[in-house]
Amino acid sequence: MNYDIKDIKLAAAGKKRIDWADKDMSVLNQVKKRFSQAKPLKGLKISACLHVTAETANLVRTLKAGGADVLLCASNPLSTQDDVAASLVKDDGIKVFAKKGEDKNTYFKHLEIAIKHRPDVTMDDGADLLSLLHTKYKNQVKDIKGSMEETTTGVIRLKALEKENRLLIPIVAVNDAQTKNMFDNRYGTGQSTLDGIIRATDILLAGKTVVVAGYGWCGRGFASRARGMGANVIVTEVDQIKALEAAMDGFRVTTMAQAASVGDLFCTLTGDLHVIRPEHFKKMKDGAIVCNSGHFDVEIDVIGLKKIAKSVVKNVRNFVDEYHLANGKKIYLLADGRLINLAAAEGHPASVMDMSFSTQALATEYVVKNAGKLENKVYDVPVEIEQWIAQAKLKSMGISIDQLTPEQKKYLSSWQIGT
Ligand code: ADE
Repeated sequence: MNYDIKDIKLAAAGKKRIDWADKDMSVLNQVKKRFSQAKPLKGLKISACLHVTAETANLVRTLKAGGADVLLCASNPLSTQDDVAASLVKDDGIKVFAKKGEDKNTYFKHLEIAIKHRPDVTMDDGADLLSLLHTKYKNQVKDIKGSMEETTTGVIRLKALEKENRLLIPIVAVNDAQTKNMFDNRYGTGQSTLDGIIRATDILLAGKTVVVAGYGWCGRGFASRARGMGANVIVTEVDQIKALEAAMDGFRVTTMAQAASVGDLFCTLTGDLHVIRPEHFKKMKDGAIVCNSGHFDVEIDVIGLKKIAKSVVKNVRNFVDEYHLANGKKIYLLADGRLINLAAAEGHPASVMDMSFSTQALATEYVVKNAGKLENKVYDVPVEIEQWIAQAKLKSMGISIDQLTPEQKKYLSSWQIGT
């Protein structure tokens, strides 16, 4: 069987959604056009472990246009858009192994199928595929020319592997490209996290106290969008510089222990473990809402919450569980602590994924072109790729920018002219 998806009959709805996203992905479309002529990925097998969304579908179509035989599996059990998965199978002949709500066993079974595809190149969002390739399937790493990593959490894991001298494949850290994190992580997460929270709860943000854990690009984006909706935003951080930045951006900065008793809505975007724990839940107001928009479902100590709860009412709304604590208060946990923007909404909008996935596609071409020359290290995306994407995006937005005059160029490369 070349696929494992929820229902092939959803294909027509998925196709509409993919085409709708496609019209906002003009940079990726330029890459696709060039790929379909030059075929830089001809004869290559690619296994991509990504969120199966309409935007990802357009990346996969681009890789296929470049000549690759692509297999796609989910990078999170809750993020798959089943109609998109069906359309990719039916309309594009892509091997898709992903079902929204799949259990952990199925999730890992799908990852194993992706490895058995015997890829020349892999793509990860969170490094689960790479992690499996560095443990159970070590014998296969020699066949792999390189791999791309889409998210902060994945890059952190792969850099840890590199630090221990155990990295066996060259990696391109797509996440670390400015054309990715400054836009996708900040504006994409900012908007899609709000979207997920609103779709799940239908709450009014104006006047609410929103506690944002983490002030990296994702936290910055979400904090600014929540403020834009009229919320009073509190930021918690462990990094001194980021905490200062949040304070000077005008947010209240304090500890989670302090914030716990005043927040109406809590959202974790840290990439770290157990940022909200039982000691915090116990202090929260009756009716507090808690969710996560970080990659893994570890940021909220859900097991700890279950332990201190007397009872749980599942699904009081879609993606909302009501926890009854011994102190008589109720806490609402969204999407089991999994990333709210992809579980309850549709992830980041296409026009921002346009940049992320153009970076992915061009990094793939780079890895293939440089196969054998790259070391087993975590590489940045080459600056020329970033510059090309930025100029193409500006052009698609109808924005022109100034050019340096010869006099300015000379000034910027000299030291003589001062006071
Ligand atoms: N990560 C966040 N939003 C996404 C989207 N729309 N598609 C794929 N990956 C994503």
